[in-house]
Amino acid sequence: MSDVVEVQVPLGDRTYTVTVGHGARTRASSVIPSTARRVAVVTQSGIPDTYIPQFPQQSVSIHHIGDGEVHKSLTTIERLCSEFAREGLTRGDVIVAVGGGMVTDVAGFAAASYHRGIPVVHVATSLLAMIDAAVGGKTGVNIPEGKNLVGAFWQPHAVICELDALATLPEREMRCGLGEMAKYHFIVREDLNEMPFNERIARCVGIKAEIVAADEREGGIRAFLNYGHTLAHALEIGTDFEIAHGEAVSIGVLYAAHLAHVLGRISEQRVDEHYRVVHDVYGLRNPLPEGVIADRLIEDMGRDKKAVNSLTFVLDSADGLEVVSGIEEQHVRSALDALMARLAQ
Ligand code: GLY
Repeated sequence: MSDVVEVQVPLGDRTYTVTVGHGARTRASSVIPSTARRVAVVTQSGIPDTYIPQFPQQSVSIHHIGDGEVHKSLTTIERLCSEFAREGLTRGDVIVAVGGGMVTDVAGFAAASYHRGIPVVHVATSLLAMIDAAVGGKTGVNIPEGKNLVGAFWQPHAVICELDALATLPEREMRCGLGEMAKYHFIVREDLNEMPFNERIARCVGIKAEIVAADEREGGIRAFLNYGHTLAHALEIGTDFEIAHGEAVSIGVLYAAHLAHVLGRISEQRVDEHYRVVHDVYGLRNPLPEGVIADRLIEDMGRDKKAVNSLTFVLDSADGLEVVSGIEEQHVRSALDALMARLAQ
């Protein structure tokens, strides 16, 4: 791949470009709206200053949000919006989010809400943000009743994936991004690992862009981006978020394969292919967290956002992924047993 690749998210007059590459942050000043006189950068203290782009023509303010899910809150949104208001940020200006998925989710929701919506540019510095959180316009924060329960669809004005940042990304965060990357292999049924890693990142962005363009508000196929997420969310809840999202997804993808097999939708070989990608290609041999209880997982999976009246999963088949509802609990349990047995081998 040449140094920098551009991927379009085609959404009519809200179409935007995702720029992927080493040093891509240097393009930030050229992708903000021409009306912007002020830039409000939202970031975290752990993100090296070097990834904050320069905006020589604008007045720039820096706003930090705390580390950890507890800061992904309405309190943080209120504080940010107060800071923006005190600085006189207007709808012609721009918010620039620099960081991982938590920063892009929070800054994106602040952008969606402040002055009823101002432009936001995401500079993604984690793999998970590059291939998932920063692209597609989902923004939001947690409330005590659940994760990401308050938010908005607010498409960014542009996205920059700064590949330089991957060299300094903590290993656990890298592995979380790889968990999300693994799911793309089953969304498109392409041998993505044939591609050099940087190209694979751009390809994942391209896959997400096509899905978002086809189903921006998740009425249908956007749910495929949640492949493996039903068990993953239950594992996150069951461990009080001790397990990180991407780690949980890497297990959830394997579980989805077992469930599809139990339901006669895919062969044993296809289950093995899931293990090959997750365990061998990405080295994500995450065990099931200790102490998780099958009954509790099944109960929490029944409460998943996809599940309206019944257990609902995104499942593989010979024709690709599908959203499948009305799955009987005995099948969900058998697949859990099969997963536990195989992970214990
Ligand atoms: N993270 C899944 C989506 O953007 O739909």
